[in-house]
Amino acid sequence: MTAKHDAIAAASPWVRRFAAAIPTDGVVLDLACGSGRHTALLASLGHQLMAVDQDISALELLQSATVQIQKLDLEGSDWPLLGHQFSGIVVTNYLYRPFLEELPKMLVEGGVLIYETFADGNAVFGKPSNPNFLLNPGELLALAQRSGLKVIAYEDIYLDQPKPAMVQRICAVKGHLKGCVPLQFVG
Ligand SMILES: C[S@@+](CC[C@H](N)C(=O)[O-])C[C@H]1O[C@@H](n2cnc3c(N)ncnc32)[C@H](O)[C@@H]1O
Repeated sequence: MTAKHDAIAAASPWVRRFAAAIPTDGVVLDLACGSGRHTALLASLGHQLMAVDQDISALELLQSATVQIQKLDLEGSDWPLLGHQFSGIVVTNYLYRPFLEELPKMLVEGGVLIYETFADGNAVFGKPSNPNFLLNPGELLALAQRSGLKVIAYEDIYLDQPKPAMVQRICAVKGHLKGCVPLQFVG
């Protein structure tokens, strides 16, 4: 198995399930992409990517004609992606509330937001335990509703894999869904 295959295998089941909902005719943003596990997955599905993080040291191998890697501070005084438009935005295991509202604004018509991160109640399982990094009950749902996104799926649940955690996650679309969504992720 190559490092790229390992990365795809480690992708979140939530992202794997809803990746097919993202239109294929634009650029997908992998926000605070870390090692790029979702960049690798989405690139393998034929998407163009912009992968951003403050630490891009692990991402060199993913750079290609269709994958643009950018080192950005996402928590400065100004939103660094102002004016960008995306067919999809994927955020996992990352939360910075001051710029949360910027995400729906960057979606094109038909664009899809896939967001999954730790939620209120996670402290009993360990880190993250700082409330700044934990979603409040219904927070992603409220974001979608006040931004005019249509909610395709939403969960606020306990997960035992990949480690015990409280997790909130959403898939929401701006306007009408162009892609398709399998009933559930298999495999
Ligand atoms: C827990 S990791 C999640 C990585 C990836 N989304 C995933 O789920 O595999 C959080 C990521 O946020 C990035 N990050 C934290 N603060 C940041 C900042 N101010 N600007 C850009 N990236 C930041 C870290 O470098 C790290 O890669």
